[in-house]
Amino acid sequence: MKGVILAGGRGTRLDPLTRVTNKHLLPVYDRPMIYYPLQTLVEAGIEDVLIVTTPEHVGAFRRLLGTGRHLGVRELQYACQEHEGGIADALLCAEEFVGNDRMCVILGDNLIEGTIRNSVDEFEKQATGARVLLKVVPDPEHFGVAQLEDGRIVDIVEKPSQPATCLAVIGIYFYDNDVFEICTTVAPSERGELEITDVNNAYLQRGALTHDVVDGWWTDAGTIENLYRAHRLVAEGVSELAPILRYCA
Ligand code: G1P
Repeated sequence: MKGVILAGGRGTRLDPLTRVTNKHLLPVYDRPMIYYPLQTLVEAGIEDVLIVTTPEHVGAFRRLLGTGRHLGVRELQYACQEHEGGIADALLCAEEFVGNDRMCVILGDNLIEGTIRNSVDEFEKQATGARVLLKVVPDPEHFGVAQLEDGRIVDIVEKPSQPATCLAVIGIYFYDNDVFEICTTVAPSERGELEITDVNNAYLQRGALTHDVVDGWWTDAGTIENLYRAHRLVAEGVSELAPILRYCA
């Protein structure tokens, strides 16, 4: 399975922090944001990774990460999204890299406490289709929101003003190779973007969408509040570990 990290966009919700750099290069506690999704993939055994970013910032990613070997990556490649077109449009830049394989896609500003290893294992067993991860959140109106019936997803709505549930679809997705064909068939949304929620709903219509609910904390870091939250969650995790590390030393 290949790993794809989407790290483009203009990061306007973090302006002026993102005026001269890319959101995913900003610090979260003691390391650049992009390290976290990379670590999530590597920890789950996904070692061939593509970073999709903008032509403007790809050089900075290369300088920071290079071959990625020091971070446990076997093969790290870079691709550029030439224009703003949304998450599903950015994913199309990964077609050549993924080849005939299947993939785990992570939005570069999504941080999780736990491991995705179980979901990787379950998706390996799934013959075809897609798998999404859900998290109970207090503010579902800011995310894609899943509606469930009898334990199965029946609909996903992108940023609904009146969410049907508190289950956010987080920015970690598993897809088979059909995703590239699906990305070319979805129509742009009102904000002019190819929405990943429409891609997930296309899998749903095929009866090919499964899910897991994430344990532990999850946050995106795309707004000032959430970036601060990400710093705090990572720092608290580190300080919780500190006494154990001291004891082990
Ligand atoms: C995107 C997706 C949304 C998802 C969220 C997770 O939103 O469109 O469905 O819940 O990422 O971070 P965006 O950050 O582009 O507003």
